[in-house]
Amino acid sequence: MTAGLDPVKVMKQEVGKAAAERVKSGSIVGLGTGSTTAFAIQFLGERLKSGELMDIKGVPTSFQASVLAKKYGIPLTTLDEIDKIDIAIDGADEVDPQKNLIKGGGAAHTREKIVDSLADVFIVVVDSSKLVDRLGSTFPLPVEVLPLAVTPVMKAIESLGGKPELRMGVKKDGPVITDQGNMVLDVTFDAIDNPAELEKTLNNIPGVLENGLFVGVANIVLIGEIKDGQSIVREM
Ligand code: A5P
Repeated sequence: MTAGLDPVKVMKQEVGKAAAERVKSGSIVGLGTGSTTAFAIQFLGERLKSGELMDIKGVPTSFQASVLAKKYGIPLTTLDEIDKIDIAIDGADEVDPQKNLIKGGGAAHTREKIVDSLADVFIVVVDSSKLVDRLGSTFPLPVEVLPLAVTPVMKAIESLGGKPELRMGVKKDGPVITDQGNMVLDVTFDAIDNPAELEKTLNNIPGVLENGLFVGVANIVLIGEIKDGQSIVREM
């Protein structure tokens, strides 16, 4: 089934589709950011086009999500215009066994945390490479920082035992600038023993806007896997 196809892409595609299938007509849908959620947005658009799904509105978590929503014909709304978000679909960079996450590989974690936290049901879509026993083992923790505070925030993070690195652009000289006009530090910790405490401690540093630890936010984690050459989706 996967012969000739990139297995990671196949896993992302299948898990994105599985999440999109859980969206019901009339829903307000949080639209996450990243390559896996991009497939969910595409399948939501296809379901709308076929008439199988009707009357949904998306709340984008990034410029990328709003561009994709427009491309696939999903009407958008804002947090000012709605009372609640029924369901959000979003990717992750790491998922631990308690469904806690590291997000922000695409520098969108601040808006993602706002939207995903407001959803009645937040579905995380990942391929199996994202599963870890402990957060921080494979992926540095993204922290969005106001530009003027980058130096003092780096010092404060170092005093907590983290090793921060300013994220640099690709095909752009200088640092990555977020959708909000800020910068991102990618922080390596020897171990993240208590994600809930670290999430709060980091957000308490003046100049930090938001970090990529999502503790107790995810309700459902869908995992795309390849088993015996077949792509399957399982729920954690
Ligand atoms: C965006 O900032 C991130 O939180 C993404 O949701 C996360 O990096 C997952 O992206 P992929 O689905 O592209 O791996």
